Amino acid sequence: MDTSFERSENTKVEWLTPPELVKQLGIFDLDPCSPVNPPFVHAKTNFTIEDDGLRKNWFGRVYLNPPYGKGMELWLEKLKNHGNGIALIFARTETKCFFNHIWDDADAVLFVKGRIKFYHVSGVQAGTPGAPSVFIAYGKENAEILKNAGIAGRFLYLK
Ligand SMILES: C[S@@+](CC[C@H](N)C(=O)[O-])C[C@H]1O[C@@H](n2cnc3c(N)ncnc32)[C@H](O)[C@@H]1O
Repeated sequence: MDTSFERSENTKVEWLTPPELVKQLGIFDLDPCSPVNPPFVHAKTNFTIEDDGLRKNWFGRVYLNPPYGKGMELWLEKLKNHGNGIALIFARTETKCFFNHIWDDADAVLFVKGRIKFYHVSGVQAGTPGAPSVFIAYGKENAEILKNAGIAGRFLYLK
């Protein structure tokens, strides 16, 4: 069985952010795309696929590690319009998603050093992903929090 991250991106495997990493980014009001049976949560309020977090009203400080695949851009667009939060996605800097919603719109990015070890919904650590990750901050306050979070990588202001 191939368990590489790239091959699993469009399957139903859910790749969860290590909770200790999100804690370094402070308290979040909302995770709009959380698993239905999460082993841990990242925010005070957590929408799941059953709520369809993409169609709900977002509020407060948002943590976004969106579902992978074709619709991913819509989640980044919604966070851009919301203007308050931090996203974690693959550092695919050439994509439409980056050019439409990040390079000219986000306040800062942090390219993560090394590869994040994500978790399965079972709570067990998943394999190492086949791509690097980047955190994206929307809003000046989130840019400062990202800068000072102590997460290893290269931080860049975009505004
Ligand atoms: C990459 S995982 C990230 C989970 C969590 N946000 C984290 O960082 O640990 C994406 C999650 O989005 C959920 N999801 C997929 N479609 C959704 C939808 N329309 N509304 C809310 N959640 C959804 C999946 O079930 C999955 O748990």
